[in-house]
Amino acid sequence: MRVTITEIKDMKQRNEKIPMLTAYDYVTARMVDESGVPLILVGDSLGMVMLGYESTIPVTMDEMLHHTTAVVRGARKALVVGDMPFMTYHISVPDALSNATRFIQEGGAQAVKLEGGEAVAEQVRRLVACGIPVMGHIGLTPQSIHQLGGFKAQGRVVGDARRLLNDARILEEAGAFAIVLECTPAPLSELITGRLTIPTIGIGAGPGCDGQVQVISDVLGLYTDFVPKHARQYARLAGEIRDAVACYISDVRSISFPTTEHSYTMDEGLIEQLEAEA
Ligand code: KIV
Repeated sequence: MRVTITEIKDMKQRNEKIPMLTAYDYVTARMVDESGVPLILVGDSLGMVMLGYESTIPVTMDEMLHHTTAVVRGARKALVVGDMPFMTYHISVPDALSNATRFIQEGGAQAVKLEGGEAVAEQVRRLVACGIPVMGHIGLTPQSIHQLGGFKAQGRVVGDARRLLNDARILEEAGAFAIVLECTPAPLSELITGRLTIPTIGIGAGPGCDGQVQVISDVLGLYTDFVPKHARQYARLAGEIRDAVACYISDVRSISFPTTEHSYTMDEGLIEQLEAEA
């Protein structure tokens, strides 16, 4: 049975921390799911860590759907959240509805995530009214980096902190089932978490959130262009992959791969027969 948003909300009530990870493909989703992560985000971070863009801004609906369907095929139990890309939910409420519908209908996701607070409250309200679970996302919202002036922590001065608290309340009131807090100071995240009945999922937001989300490529040490301050590398796969590929190159060059055990056999005498025919 797949995890539901009710179970996610119940975890907060039980004081049970909620681990969430991103995944972008079938194989990774399958491993993450089998490890017992209840929430998988197909984040638009895939634009940077999988597609090599400089930010999440160029990511399109078609790219997101392509990866979402793969993740859904790999995740049998976790609730899969599809991340709505830049400008696919701002222009109008009908636009947000039709793009979110694609995540659920074509992508097979069970929920969508969108960035912003009060500015997107109407979209959240309508999506939820139509039966589409929504995860909010406030603090550092990477789709707004040009407006924010870069990848910077948010809510460090009183006006910003007050606005974020207000945004969180508005998202809860609009029907979001959880809210990502990205790069908000730990005491502010804790305050927001205490004021909400829905779970907060932090990334660079301190230990006081109800759950934590990390980008899988950071956790596995796969993406080394930039490692955020808030990430912990539980493995260093980039180095391991480079070493494995170097061994392969060397084996091919020295003809120590493939060996007979990697080769297929054929009927005895066939080669002699083919040679004789020629
Ligand atoms: O796109 C993403 O991976 C995200 C997380 C960092 C929350 O939005």
